[in-house]
Amino acid sequence: MIGFLTKDRKSKKIKEKQLDPKRLPKHVAIIMDGNGRWAKKRGLPRIAGHKAGVEALRDIVRACVDWGIKILTVYAFSTENWKRPEEEVNGLMNLLVEYLRRELLDLKQKGVQIRSIGRLEGLPTKAEKELIQAEKETVDNNKLILNLAINYGGRTELVDACRKIAYEVIEGKLKPEEIDEQVIKNALYTRELPDPDLLIRPSGELRISNFLLWQLAYTEFWITDIYWPDFRRGDLYQALVDYQQRERRFGGLKI
Ligand code: IPE
Ligand code: IPE
Ligand code: MG
Repeated sequence: MIGFLTKDRKSKKIKEKQLDPKRLPKHVAIIMDGNGRWAKKRGLPRIAGHKAGVEALRDIVRACVDWGIKILTVYAFSTENWKRPEEEVNGLMNLLVEYLRRELLDLKQKGVQIRSIGRLEGLPTKAEKELIQAEKETVDNNKLILNLAINYGGRTELVDACRKIAYEVIEGKLKPEEIDEQVIKNALYTRELPDPDLLIRPSGELRISNFLLWQLAYTEFWITDIYWPDFRRGDLYQALVDYQQRERRFGGLKI
């Protein structure tokens, strides 16, 4: 059992909860939402919320390493986020570059492998290059896969998968009747990863916002009102404890 002392957010009481390390989710996905509201509440510009969000990510990545979570996928920028003002988009891209430059050495030392999903070619060159470099430098690490969803959209991913499969059919490598769930899975950006076991959405929205549409088919959802910049390992711990109380049936019956 992994013991963890945490302050209960409501009662302010310190209590110890227990996590069973044998039943941890292998893959946790997080929609890092609420940065703008966090900043607004403090009378700060939205970008200050995004900066504070990076600190939350640092803490959660370390917690995953400490507790033995193998894959963490975080939604950092969606294909729809380009609709935001240019200043905010540029600020987010600069933060990504800064994060990778500042954290790379430490992530390397902790055995974190950086990966990304999304249309990287649509990113500003600096961000794309930095990400490719970080992926190259961490490719042999195996403690935790940190999978960054950037310029990612679930529908775009399915479009790209359909195109890939269509080309294979045209080239005679595949017959239409051979297309099954495995073929589609193998055409997704996440082809090498298992589906997320647990999805966490901070800041209280009850929607998927175009995240991992195929992969979330049987994922357990955990939603909290806490804004992402305030989210810390104690909150992750609570999500994991709750996850361990769930009964996953995958359409079958309780065994
Ligand atoms: C999430 O926080 C970060 C990105 C979408 C890039 P938001 O910026 O969406 O924060 P809210 O939802 O406006 O509070
Ligand atoms: C989802 O949050 C995208 C990321 C966190 C990167 P949004 O803030 O873009 O989602 P909506 O617009 O509230 O659905
Ligand atoms: Mg939002």
